[in-house]
Amino acid sequence: MRTALKKNNALILGIETSCDETSAAVACGEKNILSNVVVSSLRFHKKYSGVVPEIACRHHAENINIVLDKALKQAKAGLSDIKAVSVTQGPGLIGALLVGVSMAKALSYCLRIPIIPVNHLHGHLYAALLSTDKAARFPATGLVVSGGHTTLVHMRGIDNLKLMGQTRDDACGEAFDKAARVLGLGYPGGPVIEKLAAKGRPGKIRFTRPFLEAGSMDFSFSGIKTSVLNLVRGMKGKPCSTADICREFQDAVFDVIIEKTRICCLKNRSESLLVGGGVSANGQLRKRLKILCDREGIDLFLPARGMSLDNAAMIAALGSYKYNRHIFGSLDFTAMSDMPF
Ligand code: KG4
Ligand code: ZN
Repeated sequence: MRTALKKNNALILGIETSCDETSAAVACGEKNILSNVVVSSLRFHKKYSGVVPEIACRHHAENINIVLDKALKQAKAGLSDIKAVSVTQGPGLIGALLVGVSMAKALSYCLRIPIIPVNHLHGHLYAALLSTDKAARFPATGLVVSGGHTTLVHMRGIDNLKLMGQTRDDACGEAFDKAARVLGLGYPGGPVIEKLAAKGRPGKIRFTRPFLEAGSMDFSFSGIKTSVLNLVRGMKGKPCSTADICREFQDAVFDVIIEKTRICCLKNRSESLLVGGGVSANGQLRKRLKILCDREGIDLFLPARGMSLDNAAMIAALGSYKYNRHIFGSLDFTAMSDMPF
């Protein structure tokens, strides 16, 4: 058991259950992760080509105690060492969020420790700061690219966020998943499309890039997904392969993301770019973001590969940041499927 820990190195327990990952983690300070246990119910959703909320919730209820015990054990800590519990409040699947929020409230109540509700998208952006000792300079732009969100925010500081743009239809990860389904590539679509795109020939086909109104920082990906569907339906005899389609699909989605991110960075005179969410695991996107930032003189913060997807480490670390600034919630907050910054 730890004794005499400095206050800003208090142990914070993080809980994440917004989608299909049940996760618990222990942070000791704002960047130091002692444990991060993730159990995914992904394989139970594969045959439905997407996350089934009912199945995800059942697995959260079954796994939450297991991941908590493991996270504490790996951190060599007991419940009495934990100084606060931070939890994903939203956005996400409401039934799934409620499992984590209920557990966090029970711990906060029984252990008489503060509870810290955290925005899941904010957690994804914070994950980018965990990969390096370098400090982000502000103002910054935050880009979340996940299965449920494509969001640009202006950051005046780590905890001062303003929404600049978001998707008007499918999120980019969702578009990868739906395009993969149309192409018969299984679920989730992102990793398999990335792999095939690497073998695809550029310029064999051309999809329209939806940039919307001039200067808009909103996104729309459903048209690119429909282009894939239309192409596949009328494909007999066409001189392009599945790999070529993946290549063009990925290029089209990333052309839009890179351009909107560039506009947002320039508009807000951003000194840093923080990126998070499942799609930020994509090597091609990472490469293109690096080129953008090098060209514009912006510091780029990307999550370590394992930290792009949903995890409680980012929730625990952001909880630690808030704990050190006395930003606490109270037990009467509720989970929110749609949650503003
Ligand atoms: O952040 P995340 O784990 O869950 C949400 O909060 O939504 O993101 C999951 C999404 C899925 O849509 C998946 O297809 C996508 O991230 N993804 C990728 C890659 N790895 C995961 N998309 C593109 N390229 C990848 N390598
Ligand atoms: Zn996520």
